[in-house]
Amino acid sequence: MIVVTAAGGATGTAVVRALLSGGEQVRAVVPSRRPRPQLDGLGAEVVAGDLTGDLSDAFAGADGLYLIWPNFDPSEATGAPAVLTAAARAGVRRLVYHSVLRPQARAMPHHAAKDRVEEALDGAVVGTAARWRVLQPCAYADNLDGQLAEAVDGGELRSPWGLEQAQSFVDLYDVAEAAAVLLTTDGLDSGTFEAVGPEELTAPDVAALLSARSGRPVTAVDVRVDDDGAYAGRCRTTMFDWYRVNGFTGSPRVLTDLLGRSPRTFAERLALPSG
Ligand SMILES: NC(=O)c1ccc[n+]([C@@H]2O[C@H](COP(=O)([O-])OP(=O)(O)OC[C@H]3O[C@@H](n4cnc5c(N)ncnc54)[C@H](OP(=O)(O)O)[C@@H]3O)[C@@H](O)[C@H]2O)c1
Repeated sequence: MIVVTAAGGATGTAVVRALLSGGEQVRAVVPSRRPRPQLDGLGAEVVAGDLTGDLSDAFAGADGLYLIWPNFDPSEATGAPAVLTAAARAGVRRLVYHSVLRPQARAMPHHAAKDRVEEALDGAVVGTAARWRVLQPCAYADNLDGQLAEAVDGGELRSPWGLEQAQSFVDLYDVAEAAAVLLTTDGLDSGTFEAVGPEELTAPDVAALLSARSGRPVTAVDVRVDDDGAYAGRCRTTMFDWYRVNGFTGSPRVLTDLLGRSPRTFAERLALPSG
């Protein structure tokens, strides 16, 4: 039995699907039981459990944990190590933490939090039979999904990361498959694995791919996101400022190795039927 947290979110649901398609038994942890069409009916055991509370029922009889922390949540740096420690003490032997590419880029608060969680991994398992692994995805290609139709209709792809620097977008489907590999394959303990897409794309590159796919002109335009002062807003603005200056790229080699195939390109992703 493998426990997946934040299972109702985009990442969690993708990981649950990947595990189930590999024949694994999955316990999906959500903060409250309410209808979740994207999760209900997949075949996972869906249980309520708060990441900041007692998860011992969720850990009962589990062999593995995939720890996803909610996005841009200020409690990650202290909360995630506590959950990992509790899981190790409850007898869960394989702990996989969903981090991010370049957590050491601490100017971004959510990266700093994930860096601290990675720092705490050894201490979380010490004195137990548990071992850890880490997956470090770059930005998902899926993050752009919500604006693609509007970009094609209006002819403008709005880019809060500017027009110059590139990102190595990774398909969440590939991230989830890599997560399933880390949860089910022996010989990877104490390993940290990057999940990075196969190509470096600027916003104008993405716009060009959209144009090619739709047959309509799409131009990338530079936009700034507002900082509302809250933690999530600060994460978002510092993230886009970082991307604007430095880009957010990496090597696809590790993900290719984990998957046993090339990760999906953006063009392949656009060619997929919607839904
Ligand atoms: N997006 C990217 O490009 C990217 C790249 C690398 C890493 N990541 C990381 O991936 C992680 C997941 O991101 P995501 O966008 O998939 O997540 P998400 O959509 O924000 O999902 C978060 C889920 O966590 C649940 N949740 C919130 N508070 C909770 C609590 N106290 N206890 C238990 N569950 C709780 C939410 O439940 P409800 O449904 O009830 O609200 C929601 O379903 C984040 O840590 C993010 O930093 C993302």
